[in-house]
Amino acid sequence: MNPDQAMLAQDNRGHFRRFFLGLHGPDAPTIERAEGLYFWDSLGRRYIDTTSGPVTCNLGHGNAAVLDAMTKQAQKACFAWPVMFKSEANLALSESLSRLAGPGYDCPFVVSGGSEAVESALKFARQYAIAKGEPSRWKVISRHPAYHGGTLGAAAVSGDEISQEIFGPMMQAMPKVPAPFTYRLEPGETPEERARSTAQALAEEIERQGPETVAAFIMEPIGGLATGALVAPDLYYRHVREICDRYGLLLIYDEVMSGAGRSGRFLAAHHWPDALPDLVVLAKGVGAGFTPLGLMLASSEMVDAVAAEGGFLHGHTYNANPLSCAVGHAVLQETERLDLIANAERMGTLLMSELRAVMADSPIVGDVRGRGLLQAIELVANKETKESIPMEHNAVGQICTLGMEEGLAIYSRVPNGGKFGQWLMMTPPLIVNEEQVQEITTGLAKVLSRCSDRLARDGLI
Ligand SMILES: Cc1ncc(COP(=O)(O)O)c(C=O)c1O
Repeated sequence: MNPDQAMLAQDNRGHFRRFFLGLHGPDAPTIERAEGLYFWDSLGRRYIDTTSGPVTCNLGHGNAAVLDAMTKQAQKACFAWPVMFKSEANLALSESLSRLAGPGYDCPFVVSGGSEAVESALKFARQYAIAKGEPSRWKVISRHPAYHGGTLGAAAVSGDEISQEIFGPMMQAMPKVPAPFTYRLEPGETPEERARSTAQALAEEIERQGPETVAAFIMEPIGGLATGALVAPDLYYRHVREICDRYGLLLIYDEVMSGAGRSGRFLAAHHWPDALPDLVVLAKGVGAGFTPLGLMLASSEMVDAVAAEGGFLHGHTYNANPLSCAVGHAVLQETERLDLIANAERMGTLLMSELRAVMADSPIVGDVRGRGLLQAIELVANKETKESIPMEHNAVGQICTLGMEEGLAIYSRVPNGGKFGQWLMMTPPLIVNEEQVQEITTGLAKVLSRCSDRLARDGLI
C-alpha cells in the first residue's frame, strides 16, 4: 500500500466515503456538536452551515421541540409495522402533509428517503397505468441533467453520464430530454424560446417512443445539485403540464430538495398553480436531518384506482414507522410555528441580492439562480464567454476546503464531470436570519477571492 492508499484506507473507516470526489478527503474535521446554524468540531472550531448539509436540515440543528417529540415517541413505540398497526404519529403526519400540500395530495406513501420515494413514484405510475387499462405504458421520461437518487430505478431516470457509464448495463434505459438551462443561450435566443423548445423536446420524445408506451415524466421543478438550482421561465411548466395531459402521462415532481418550504412555498409546485403535478416526491427537509424520511404524495382517487386492482405492490420494512412519522410531524409543526416558509421567501430575496453583489465583485461567479432558500452560484473562468473553469483546477474542491478554513461548511460537487457547468449550492437552514445571511455571503466572498487569486496567480483564469 502506498502512502496515498494508506491515507484513503484510514479515511474510509467508519462510513467509507466517496473519495473520488476529492472535496475534503482525510482532512475533514470531526463533528463534536451542532446547534442552530452552526457546527463545532472536536478542536472547538465553529462552522456556519451554508447549505443545510445536502439541503436537508431545514430547521437547523438541535431543535428542542423535535428532539422532545422524538424522545416521547421513542418511549411510546419506536416501531410498529403499518401492516399490523395504525399509529397516531402516522395519521398526524399525513394530516399535516395533506393540509400543507393542498388538494390532490392527500395520500402519502411514507418511506425512508428520497431515492425510495422516487422508486415508489415510478412503480406507482406503472401500476396506475395498468389500473387505468393501459398496460403498455411503462417508460418514464426524465431530463438530462437531473438527479433523482442513487438506487438503480432512480438512477435510471437520473441524467448523469458518469453514473450511466458505470451502472448503465445494470439498469433499464429510460428516455431523456434536455433540461431547460437558460444561462448559456444561442446567439439571439431568449430564455422563453429555450423554455419552449425544451418543453417541445418532451412532446417529440413522447412521439418518438410511442405515447402508448410512456407512463410518466419526472422532473425537479427547481433544480438541485444536478442543475445548480435551475428555475425555468414560467411558460415551461404550463407547456410541460399541457404535453403530459395531451399524451395521457403522469407528471411527477421530484421535490426532494425543493419541497417542505425551502422554495418559499410548501411545495415548489405551488409557484406554478396552473401546472400542478399528479405525484410529488418529498424527502430531505421533511425529516430535516432528524430522521430518515421520504414521501410520495398522490390523490385518493389514484390510490383508490390502484387499490381496486389489488393494491400497491411495493414496500419497505421502515414504511411509516412511528418514530420517523412523529419526528416528521414535529418538523412540520415547527416549520409552521416559526413561520419558516415565509422566512425562506424573505431571506431568499435577501440572499439573492447579496449573492448578486458577490457576483459583481468576483471574476469567477457568472450566475446566481434559484428560488427562496434553494439557490446556487455558477463558477466560470470568463464571465463574458461563460467558459467553465477547467476541471483539472478543482475550483469547487478548493472552495469547499477554503470554506472550512474560513468557518463555512459548503456543499457542492461537480455533476456530470462538469459538462454542464460547476456551481455551489447556497441553501442555508430555513431559520437563517439577516445577520447570518450577511455572515454567509461575507465569508463566501472571502473564500471566492482567495480561490480566484490562486487561479489568477497560477495563470489559470
Ligand atoms: C432531487 C433529488 N431527488 C432524489 C434524491 C435522493 O434522495 P436520497 O439521497 O435521500 O435517497 C436527491 C438527493 O440528493 C435529490 O436531490
